[in-house]
Amino acid sequence: MRIGILGSGLMGGKLGTLFARAGHEVVFSYARSARKLQRLARDAGGNARAGTPRDAARTADAVLLAVHWSRVDDVLKQAGDLAGKVLVSCTMPMNAADTALVVGGDSSGAEVLARKVKRARFVAAFGTVPSEVLFSVFDARGKADPPSLVYCGDDEQAKELAARLIRDVGFDPVDAGPLRIARYTEPFSLLMAQLAYEGGGSPQLAYRFARFRQ
Ligand SMILES: NC(=O)c1ccc[n+]([C@@H]2O[C@H](COP(=O)([O-])OP(=O)(O)OC[C@H]3O[C@@H](n4cnc5c(N)ncnc54)[C@H](OP(=O)(O)O)[C@@H]3O)[C@@H](O)[C@H]2O)c1
Repeated sequence: MRIGILGSGLMGGKLGTLFARAGHEVVFSYARSARKLQRLARDAGGNARAGTPRDAARTADAVLLAVHWSRVDDVLKQAGDLAGKVLVSCTMPMNAADTALVVGGDSSGAEVLARKVKRARFVAAFGTVPSEVLFSVFDARGKADPPSLVYCGDDEQAKELAARLIRDVGFDPVDAGPLRIARYTEPFSLLMAQLAYEGGGSPQLAYRFARFRQ
């Protein structure tokens, strides 16, 4: 697949690199330095290049949104028309200090974002993992039981594509249902971060859901 990365920081940089290593064509965009984008593309190997948000989105089969909540409007404006595109978002509705969710209760950041890009096919995924685990999960592919990763959305085909990307990174995709379920996964992400950085866990903490068969 061709994957456009909007926001090439901790999440976008790592996920884009892993998508490229899994064989996808990746365009890294939206960092504060063009050099950084070029370095990311070089380090990710032959399947990646640097570009503008518009380049990243134009021919993409899937676009990854990985910017701080405060940068969403800017990056979406630069990306241009996302009509019909699968938009996978790990962006969390965090305040400027990254200490609390600014959307919650009867809505979620994912639902707010989906309304901003009404004609895109929106899936919330990857927001529940600390970026630090991504490379080790990828390296452990096929060697151990994969950790679970929940995702949600209202477009079934878009979710199938997102599930493929989740698998490519090394996780077991767990479909949590419609996009409104992000009301529960977003606070869950904060719990995971709390456990990873301040509780008894570590950034390597990963979760597993057992599937019970009747
Ligand atoms: N980090 C995690 O473990 C994690 C886990 C789950 C969800 N998330 C969510 O994923 C999203 C991305 O997080 P992240 O940790 O990848 O963030 P990040 O490292 O700060 O990356 C954000 C990207 O946006 C870019 N950007 C472009 N213009 C910017 C500007 N004017 N000001 C600030 N940034 C600008 C940054 O550029 P530079 O590259 O030049 O900094 C960077 O490439 C957030 O919504 C976060 O809540 C993060």
